Amino acid sequence: MSADKTKPLTKVLCCLSDLEDGEARGFDPFKIGRDTVFVVRRSDKVYAYRDVCPHYGSTPLPWKKNAYLTRDAQHIFCSAHGATFDIETGTCTLGPCLGQSLTSVQIAISQAGEIRLFLEPEEGPIRTPVATG
Ligand code: FES
Repeated sequence: MSADKTKPLTKVLCCLSDLEDGEARGFDPFKIGRDTVFVVRRSDKVYAYRDVCPHYGSTPLPWKKNAYLTRDAQHIFCSAHGATFDIETGTCTLGPCLGQSLTSVQIAISQAGEIRLFLEPEEGPIRTPVATG
């Protein structure tokens, strides 16, 4: 069965209750063998970005699973060359890509508390995604 290329691709990443306040977590929603998106929870808000640093090529940010934040958990951190990013906007606030931004991805939290990722078909995101639901 092929995906309908006119519909957004969606995938449930996890539930809001799975994330602690101040926690970041990476996901491999399309099963390519590495995390390609990550979310950060701050209070009742969740921010989501592609796991690609704007500084260099398609470098992923963490040096180990889920290590997306600075030690004080106040910024997103790229372990390759130390860039830090504002959690709310994804803008680089310090480091070699100052002023550039992470690429945000659209998510929504359902009434049941599911964090659902949305990708438009033309976004050509993260290799060959699989449509669900
Ligand atoms: S690749 Fe992220 S700071 Fe250089």
